[in-house]
Amino acid sequence: MTPTHHDLLIRGGTVIDGTRAPRFDADVAVRDGRISAIGRLGGHGADTVIEAHGRIVAPGFIDSHTHDDQALLSQATLPFKVSQGVTTVVAGNCGISAAPLRPGMELPMPLSLLDSPDEGRFTTFRAYLDALRARPASVNVAAMVGHSTLRAVTMASLDREATPDEIAAMQALVEEAMQAGAIGLSTGTFYPPAVKATTEEIIAVGQPLRARQALYVTHMRDEADRVMEALDETFRIGRELGVPVVVSHHKVQNTQNFGRSQVTLPHIREAMKTQRICLDCYPYTAGSTMIRTDRGMLGGRVLIAASQPHPECAGRDLADIAREWGVEPDEAARRLQPGSAIYFLMDEGDVQRILAFDDTMIGSDGIPVGESPHPRLWGTFPRVLGHYSRDVGLFPLETAVWKMTGLTARNFGLHQRGTLAPGHHADIVVFDAATVRDAATYETPTRPAEGIDAVIVNGAVTWRQGAHTGARNGQVITRTESSR
Ligand code: ZN
Ligand code: CU
Repeated sequence: MTPTHHDLLIRGGTVIDGTRAPRFDADVAVRDGRISAIGRLGGHGADTVIEAHGRIVAPGFIDSHTHDDQALLSQATLPFKVSQGVTTVVAGNCGISAAPLRPGMELPMPLSLLDSPDEGRFTTFRAYLDALRARPASVNVAAMVGHSTLRAVTMASLDREATPDEIAAMQALVEEAMQAGAIGLSTGTFYPPAVKATTEEIIAVGQPLRARQALYVTHMRDEADRVMEALDETFRIGRELGVPVVVSHHKVQNTQNFGRSQVTLPHIREAMKTQRICLDCYPYTAGSTMIRTDRGMLGGRVLIAASQPHPECAGRDLADIAREWGVEPDEAARRLQPGSAIYFLMDEGDVQRILAFDDTMIGSDGIPVGESPHPRLWGTFPRVLGHYSRDVGLFPLETAVWKMTGLTARNFGLHQRGTLAPGHHADIVVFDAATVRDAATYETPTRPAEGIDAVIVNGAVTWRQGAHTGARNGQVITRTESSR
């Protein structure tokens, strides 16, 4: 006989199951952290019942691109994620990971962006994952090891190629991370700590990925004038390692490159015929990263998000600060370092084209530091659901949900997550398709999204009626688990 009593029953909602299949009306039941039944469960009961009439019941969103590595420990309730319906984050992007590091070592930008001084340093990847297991966060995490972090911990100076000995040392650290459960290796050759890394260095360091079919994920060397060369380098690394690649936050930036997604996307599509490639994207025309002084990055409006020497400048335009100080913008930027800024460098047409590309996952690239972060930290997922799917009509809601759940779980190999089916982990979001919207703007960047009714992580109700319940039921999703 089928048991009819559950821990949780979400009753009367419309299910969008994360596979891109059309929605259907059904109740969803949860027991012991798993989905125990989906269907018309009229005679069933539960300890907790959530009424979902007129609401969408979907798999919890998977943020395919985050920098939550330290926040998972230092801000473990992650309200900026849970309030959007996110139940899993992929951490360790852009070459930056929280492990392995040495206690007391100096961290170059942008590695220092993630470091929180009151947190201990993790000398092995296993120690980092063990800390996450000992002090669970409110969301699940699948973590990658970052190549820039490996360079910083291995090399005495970062302004050159790695020597054969250093490559061997980094390779051993990738192997340790893989054994501990890392799902891939990320690089950030755009950033100073890895600019001098050659393609050959990355291929050599990434060798341990091969046997496990772990992912190669990259913030490419160039997302502007030389974006095509950067794509080809990325594809080559994936081919030579024989592993799937993820092009992080795909974009074509600076005015002279506006429209070039009409070239990059067909190029990616063509390469996909012979190797596994996917990409992620955030739904905004501004990016955010460390404060830089190069003219290429300072060509558009620049908003300071955080500055260590000048915290009072957070939320202000670089142009205004420079005028006030009587200096050129690049000099003002230099004085504001280290810190992070928001750069308006993209074209709306490109953003929409990349978002709508079939194999594009949604990833926030949110940076969880400071009072004035990029609004993507609090708004990415509701913005895709509300603004881009419902209001702009870029794609149906089923496709929007798929791009933040089933597609992402498939690409990253997250076992039994990202789709609603009996036996799968009970990561669930209940939202109102008519009202869901991002409320975070460049002016009010930390305002929680609207229309998210309930968020359930491994069966635990974590967000309900506009408030965090305090639940911290997230799990570490490892490679071993995901390859099962
Ligand atoms: Zn990046
Ligand atoms: Cu990133």
